[in-house]
Amino acid sequence: MSLTERTPAGEVRSDQVGREVDLYGWVHRRRDLGGLIFIDLRDRSGIIQVKFDPVNAQAHATGGELRLESVIHVRGPVQRRPPGTENKELATGAVEVEARSVTILNRAQPPPFAVNEDNPVDEQLRLRYRYLDLRRGRMARNLQLRHRIAKAIRDFLDDEGFVEIETPVLIRSTPEGARDYLVPSRLKPGYVYALAQSPQLYKQLLMVAGMDRYFQIVRCYRDEDLRADRQPEFTQLDLEMSFVGEDDVLDVVERCFAYIWEKVLGNPISTPIRRITHAESMLRYGVDKPDLRYRLEIQELSPIFARSEFKIFRQALDAGGVVRGLRIPRTVGTKEIEALTEVARGEGAKGLAFWHREADGWRSPITKFFSERELTDLQQTMNAEPGDLVVAVADRVEVAAPALGAVRKAAARMLGLINAGIFEFVWVTEFPLFERSKETGEITAAHHPFTSPRPEDIGLLDDQPLKVRARAYDLVLNGTELGSGSIRIHDPELQQRVFQGLGISREEAERRFGFLLTAFRYGAPPHGGFAYGLDRVVMLAAGEETVREVIAFPKNQQAEEPMTDAPAPAEPKPLRELGLQLLRPPAPPTP
Ligand code: AMO
Ligand code: AMP
Repeated sequence: MSLTERTPAGEVRSDQVGREVDLYGWVHRRRDLGGLIFIDLRDRSGIIQVKFDPVNAQAHATGGELRLESVIHVRGPVQRRPPGTENKELATGAVEVEARSVTILNRAQPPPFAVNEDNPVDEQLRLRYRYLDLRRGRMARNLQLRHRIAKAIRDFLDDEGFVEIETPVLIRSTPEGARDYLVPSRLKPGYVYALAQSPQLYKQLLMVAGMDRYFQIVRCYRDEDLRADRQPEFTQLDLEMSFVGEDDVLDVVERCFAYIWEKVLGNPISTPIRRITHAESMLRYGVDKPDLRYRLEIQELSPIFARSEFKIFRQALDAGGVVRGLRIPRTVGTKEIEALTEVARGEGAKGLAFWHREADGWRSPITKFFSERELTDLQQTMNAEPGDLVVAVADRVEVAAPALGAVRKAAARMLGLINAGIFEFVWVTEFPLFERSKETGEITAAHHPFTSPRPEDIGLLDDQPLKVRARAYDLVLNGTELGSGSIRIHDPELQQRVFQGLGISREEAERRFGFLLTAFRYGAPPHGGFAYGLDRVVMLAAGEETVREVIAFPKNQQAEEPMTDAPAPAEPKPLRELGLQLLRPPAPPTP
């Protein structure tokens, strides 16, 4: 048997008046007016009103028993709603279906939260009953949007000559900077696979294989601390191209975004997307992922205070640090200044100096420490208007820049300087090749070890590695990193030098990455690529605050899936088969 005669609930219109339709769906809402009973019937396509009239005795009796979220089949004619009872909010609001017969296909228990409204519900409860949560309008819309964006990406890249190729998930570890999820091998006891953090090395090997233009919408796995825009398993749009330079990769990626925004969101963005260098971004915005929805810009004030009487500034400058400032074009109260000071302290700053601009000069508890000259120069640089606030941080540049970056972001939120509904894309280019790990102090790859240094900086590799700039770029949208990429190394000798810069010996490099170095000796084309987080793109396109809102079955902040209770305690039998033994018994599951 098949249900060929099914009419989607959301598609019934006035031109079907008089026609019999078969509706299949869920009881979304129910109104019992004594005689007449109305229900809203919902399926994926939308909602339609169904009327149960006592003249259809049997249907009416069943209508009286219907509970919210039960699944039903209704048959009956489409009717025009009586004048004055139309519902302009519904696409089907001009009509209704009179139930001549109704069958209950599944009786629902009362749901643990209201499915017919988008009210806030505890997230743990939503995730436990995710199949009910996904019935709600907002989640259903988000998943549809995700599908349409993924489809647009495939259409666009196919047109551009890219081929989608799957790469393995069970692999030997590829370093992307996160911890691996490990999968023990049963056939080779004591050995493990890593779940791919990205297809990085495979896509480079596909270039060596002559595939020229590869892409993949691919699940990646990273065991890292979770945040609003991070999941342990997430989806990347991953691509790689041969015989290209930075401009070619950036061009394809930004046209891909322009295509998505136009075709799916109907909201064209202007291309080319602006570019700033990493150094400029750190100077002007204090971060490597600037939010350009607001115009606040950090200014260098060091030259003004080089001989200042204000000890805090002088000492910072004498120690090789900087004084940098930010103009906030709003009147800011004491409480807010205190909050901003806390934000600066959170980034390691010792305090936040501030001046209120008034018609006849500066007002501040520290004004008395500054010369006329300094105050005039401050005004020249900051261009403050009466009513504005200027704040400054004096410290090592590694502290002052991020502290002001954080103050900039907090001030914009606190004072409502962010225009909602706009999309500010920006490329950040020329990232450093290496950085010093905050935890260990060791030199690590800023992007990953396969990124090419800029040719003019190769000479610095041995003596001043931290000064070497990479052929690496990030795409940022509204202050969120959407993706990263680079032109890769394709020369085995240069790859070895970069490994050495990272403290990886020749032997270790051969052991861990010998297959790559070998491949580079068999005719590797110059190549480069990019990957962006699909979850993050959909999150921003949908106006959501977390990626969990655009993933059907996400993990919670503890990397658990509350519906199936994953992860589960390890069972003795599979452990035995894998030759594994637990050092501690598993803790009892969280309730
Ligand atoms: P990267 O590590 O920057 O680059 O990852 C690319 C993009 O993937 C998204 N992303 C995540 N999204 C959700 N949850 C996570 N845990 C998570 N981790 C990363 C981000 C990020 O910008 N192989 C390189 C790319 C390349 O060089 O081509 C890579 O994976 O949006
Ligand atoms: P204090 O002399 O510690 O009371 O500081 C005077 C003002 O300078 C206060 O507003 C502090 O927040 C601010 N301040 C202290 N240290 C710094 C710093 N490193 N950079 C900028 N302002 C600072």
